[in-house]
Amino acid sequence: MEDALHGQGFGSRRECRGLVRLGRVSVAGVVVEDPDSDFAALMGPVALPDWAFTVDNLTWPYRKRALVMLHKPAGHECSLKPRHHPSVMSLLPTPLRLRGLQPIGRLDEDTTGLLLLTDDGELNHRLTSPKWHAAKVYRAVCRHAWASEATQRLLKGVVLDDGPQAVQALAVEPLDHSGENTVLLTLGEGRYHQVKRMVAAVGNRVDALHRLRMSTLELDPNLEPSQWRWLTAEEEGALRASVRLD
Ligand code: URA
Repeated sequence: MEDALHGQGFGSRRECRGLVRLGRVSVAGVVVEDPDSDFAALMGPVALPDWAFTVDNLTWPYRKRALVMLHKPAGHECSLKPRHHPSVMSLLPTPLRLRGLQPIGRLDEDTTGLLLLTDDGELNHRLTSPKWHAAKVYRAVCRHAWASEATQRLLKGVVLDDGPQAVQALAVEPLDHSGENTVLLTLGEGRYHQVKRMVAAVGNRVDALHRLRMSTLELDPNLEPSQWRWLTAEEEGALRASVRLD
């Protein structure tokens, strides 16, 4: 039990042994008495991904690797060492912070919307590497009306100041019903300030940016800004399959 608690972010091994010894941990409604008891055996016939344990009043799902979505609010930095605003990590519960979750790609401090976080390094790498072209969909509210030449230029590719290679949008969809300044942009890579710089390259300016989708996953409309949730097994499977991980 100590291993399971420690691996899930409930403290040092010593602290986890202490939690069990104090009778604060239960599995399937039964208080665990021995820190060395085997968690899998305590779960009995229950199969993953339905393993769970309770510490005090908190019931926690056991996950070999953690993968959550956060509705990122404005005013938070994705850095683990933020400089001017609180980190997005401050919006997550302590066990997720302690097990070393990292954002999958970064959103600017003022960008809102879908942010995935995981402690699975390979998944993080694949979803952020340009090689795998994981599509990201953004809604950009621009300062000026969206011009149809801007759509053509972004689909063809624009050169940014950090490299000679032109960057293209995979899709550009002006949203007339949201006002003539709003556009949906789909990108296959994620360079620094990429949306803002691409929009600037076609003579406009992003006033508000919101990420709606990453690869197979859309931001859950039931999540208010600052709220997070675990991905379901189906969502996680589809996301992993999109970058050829089982
Ligand atoms: N592109 C940007 O310019 N900012 C973001 O936060 C994400 C993509």
